[in-house]
Amino acid sequence: MRLDKFFSEQKILSRRETAVAVKKGRIAVNGITATSSDMKITVTDEITLDGKFVEYRKFVYVMLNKPDGYVCSTDDPRDKTVLELLPEQLRKVGLFPCGRLDKDTVGLVILTSDGKSAHRALSPSKHVEKKYLFVVADEYSDEDVTAIEHGLILANGETTKPCKINRIDEKSGYITLTEGKYHEIKRLFGARKNRITFLKRVSFGGITLSDLPRGEWRYLTPEEELLFIK
Ligand code: URA
Repeated sequence: MRLDKFFSEQKILSRRETAVAVKKGRIAVNGITATSSDMKITVTDEITLDGKFVEYRKFVYVMLNKPDGYVCSTDDPRDKTVLELLPEQLRKVGLFPCGRLDKDTVGLVILTSDGKSAHRALSPSKHVEKKYLFVVADEYSDEDVTAIEHGLILANGETTKPCKINRIDEKSGYITLTEGKYHEIKRLFGARKNRITFLKRVSFGGITLSDLPRGEWRYLTPEEELLFIK
């Protein structure tokens, strides 16, 4: 992030004011006086204004387009974790994935250091919508849609909450859940004697993956952060 963006986002100085402060030598990055307001800084840099430490915003929120083959955990003895797709300095700020996608599921993962908001976003009682693009092995029927949307009893006796399916064609569609049981979508279609062959999360609580390339990450925008922490 640029130094002037950092100050304006923290609502301390506008971009113009940051440029003036830099000219006056009031700002330092890691103890060295900043010489340009567009210099790049990261969350682990120490920024001072008039010698006083400026605290970086409390929490960090990023989105990642998870590729196949990565697990949603911070540490794994066997598999590559989604944390490994983030740069070194971001791995140091205590980020963890908000919820888990299966190793072979791709798409939107939100990582944050804000445990409280993550917990809220995952709580079934908050009804946060998670939307997935799916493809199944065999054609699915309108009866399958009705049964899954209504909520059904899984093989182990658990019941699922109502959800929404938007058909694309005979074997694909979007499914929107407000809960996140283990392997839920695979088990929903399994209960209808079908099998998921591709699964991609495309949105989470109104935050959309859009065109972020696979394996890439970016910070949530201020608007997206508000959707996440609301
Ligand atoms: N449902 C699944 O079956 N797998 C996922 O990764 C997410 C939802």
